[in-house]
Parts: sequence; C-alpha cells; structure tokens
Amino acid sequence: MVGGSGSWLALAADATPQQLTAGLAQVQLVPPGHAATSVWAYNGTVPGPLLRYKQGEQLHRRLVNALPQPTTIHWHGLRLPNAMDGVPGMTQAPVAPGETFDYRFDLPDAGTYWYHPHYQSEEQLGRGLSGALVIDEPDQALWGQASLIDDDQVLVFDDWRLEADASISETFGNRRDRAHAGRIGNWITVNGTGTWSQPVGHGQRLRLRLLNAANARIFTVSAQGMQGWVIALDGMPLQKIVPLKQIALAPGQRADVVVEITAQSDEEALLVSEERDGVFVLADFPVTQAAPQRASANGRPPVPLPANPVAALDNLRSARQVDLLMQGGAMGGMTREMMAAGQFWTFNGHIADHAGDYHHGEPLAEVSAGETLKIRLINETRWPHGMHLHGHHFQRVDQEEIGPLRDTILMQPNEAMTIAFVADNPGDWMLHCHMLGHQAAGMMTWIRVV
Ligand code: C2O
Ligand code: CU
Repeated sequence: MVGGSGSWLALAADATPQQLTAGLAQVQLVPPGHAATSVWAYNGTVPGPLLRYKQGEQLHRRLVNALPQPTTIHWHGLRLPNAMDGVPGMTQAPVAPGETFDYRFDLPDAGTYWYHPHYQSEEQLGRGLSGALVIDEPDQALWGQASLIDDDQVLVFDDWRLEADASISETFGNRRDRAHAGRIGNWITVNGTGTWSQPVGHGQRLRLRLLNAANARIFTVSAQGMQGWVIALDGMPLQKIVPLKQIALAPGQRADVVVEITAQSDEEALLVSEERDGVFVLADFPVTQAAPQRASANGRPPVPLPANPVAALDNLRSARQVDLLMQGGAMGGMTREMMAAGQFWTFNGHIADHAGDYHHGEPLAEVSAGETLKIRLINETRWPHGMHLHGHHFQRVDQEEIGPLRDTILMQPNEAMTIAFVADNPGDWMLHCHMLGHQAAGMMTWIRVV
C-alpha cells in the first residue's frame, strides 16, 4: 500500500526519468547552403542538450541507445558512485542497441562538467556525442549580483574531420592519428556552429563556461576587446582568481571565465584560438547592444565562487607515491612490439591486450578509502597528453604552490609532474589520456579504491 495520492505522483515522476537518446541525426555544421552532416547525437542536437541542475540535486536520466553499436554515458568530472561512472566492462555492461540504462546520482559539486560515451570513444565522440552539464551554485544569483554578471553562457568547443561533402571522415582508428597527435579535425565548431556570435553591450559582464569536447585538439584561447578572469577550472572554483591572458584547454578540460566587454560600440570582442597556422576566431561578440543598466564594474574582479566540498590533501609528505611512465608514439618512442600490437603507447611498459578491455591487468594502485595518493606522471613521449582521472579531482603538488583542483591535466612533451588526491570514492576508476586515439592505443590504466 502506498500512502496518499501525493506519493503516487512522486513515484510516477521518479519512475520516468527524462531521456537522453543517443541516435542518428542530421545537423548543419558547415555554413548554410552547404550540405548537412550525418552525426550521432543526444536527442538530435550537437552538442547534446545542456543539462542544468542545482548543487545538491539528483540527476536522473535514462540513456536510450538508438545507435548501431553499444554505448554508455560517462559523466566527466563528477564525483559520483562508481556504478554510475559509465565505463563499459568496468563499472557497467555496455548498453546494447535498443536497450536503456538509468543513471541516477546526487550532485555534490557546483560547476561546469560534461557527459559523453565511454565506449569506442574515439568514434562516438568524433561523430558528435557529447554535451555540457552545468551545476549551479545555490546562491548563484547572489554571486552574480556581487560580481555584476549580466549573462551566463556555455561554449562547447569541438572539432570535426569532414570530407569535402561535409560528411564525417570514416578514418576512425587510423594508425597514423593514433601514433601522432590523435584525430585532429579540419572544421571547428562552437556550440555546433562554425560562426557562433552573440551581440553584447560595452561594459557587459559574462560568465563563459568553456569546454573542450574535441577528440584531440588543444585549444589555446585568448580574449580580444574584453578583460577577463579565470574563476574555475574543471568545475572547481579557484580560491585565487587569476586574470585571463591565454588559457590552454586540453580535450576534456573546462574553464569558467568572467569577461567584461571593453570594446566600444560597433567594434567587436572576440575569443580566439591560437593555431599553428594563425589565429582563429572561436566566438564573436559584436558590440551592438546598449550598455548594462547598472553601476559600472570598471574592471573590478569577480568575487570568488564558494568552494566545493572536496577533501583537503593531508599527510602529503608521507603519502604513498606511484609512478606512471608514459612512453611510445611517433618520433622516437614506439617499439616494434607496440606497432605489432597496434598499441602505440604504454603506461609503465604495459601493452594493452586489446582496446576497450578496460579491466585487464592490475590496477596502477590499490588504496584504501580516505588515503592520499601521489602519482608521478612522467611523459617520456614527444607529444602532449591530457591526463584524466575519474571520480576524483587532483592537485599538482610538485611546485612551490599546490595547484588548483582538476580532473584533467595537460602535459607537455617530456614533462613530468606529481599529482595528489584523497582517494575517498570507493570503486575502480580510470586514469587515461583524453586524446581519445591515444586512449584507444594504450594510454589507459585504473586505480582501485577499497
Ligand atoms: Cu571524459 Cu574517461 O573520460
Ligand atoms: Cu595522449
């Protein structure tokens, strides 16, 4: 017997989570007048629908798989129960075509996160599957007032490898890509379009949530015609706000910035990406609107966001440390053995048995819940990598100042660094390169928290 009709309603509402259907769609990625592109998308849009919650709420979504192959959803950057992490063969069975899977978990942290498949990621993200997930601070309005914020926008950066007819290049799994920088595209989009633009007014202040959803491209972003500050990285608020000069975003990384438009009427403010062959406009803000009706902010930095409830590092000196030696890749690192296995990268000398088998072999480390773990990442390759840990945020600890909380960190060729985190989330958690061709070709391991 269920009590009053109210509880029936609550149960009914509970039983039908909103759907996220991964399926085929046609979208206009290239300018109108040219062909549409057949993509794989969540609910038919690229990027997928913006999911928005308040900190402390529960996410409840049903993945419906309308793709021709299995899939899962990984909630990148979220501290969630292991069974909800979306890693096939590790935290759940892959969701077969025609099947569904319900994801349901609490949202302890505010910030900018995202969701994407974790099954054949190189292909499934490369065909368009990913979306942003924003978790608002409960007192966001107050913070916005104190920081004089007029608008809040998510900017999803992506790049695509397109053929001349705007169709997606079927070169997934290409050995050359995997042994080099990964699948770099030839068409860049912001929120699914090549010409993203928003009219603004002089003096207007915007919170921009930048997300790099690309397979392998690193975006090096800077601003023109506006003054900016970085207020959060990978969802986590910075305790000390820093001026925005130039910010590198590896695949998977996010940066929340506040910008104030300094360009005058009829000029334009821009977010640009510095590419090898020049400067590329990502987002265009023509100054055609009236100035905001409020006191001028005049370059006043925003107020720091409240911190998320992440356990502080302690006993750093005595904490256990493991090494992760990253080797392989073109231009010096590959061995004949790696080439034969089609696995061009190794972690601690280990050649993965086959791609997609996440649970093979031993974990990099097994720690007890609550223990602080240090990982020395040693990039002995000639390539940059964006290293991502599931279920936790970590900090760089080998510099004078302890670094900001991150879930993905960009490593330059031949760079080494030590990261540390409190392993307080039980389960098996992946640690891998977010250049997805690298991940598929050997750059993945995992950590067990018991
Ligand atoms: Cu965003 Cu393991 O991935
Ligand atoms: Cu990599």
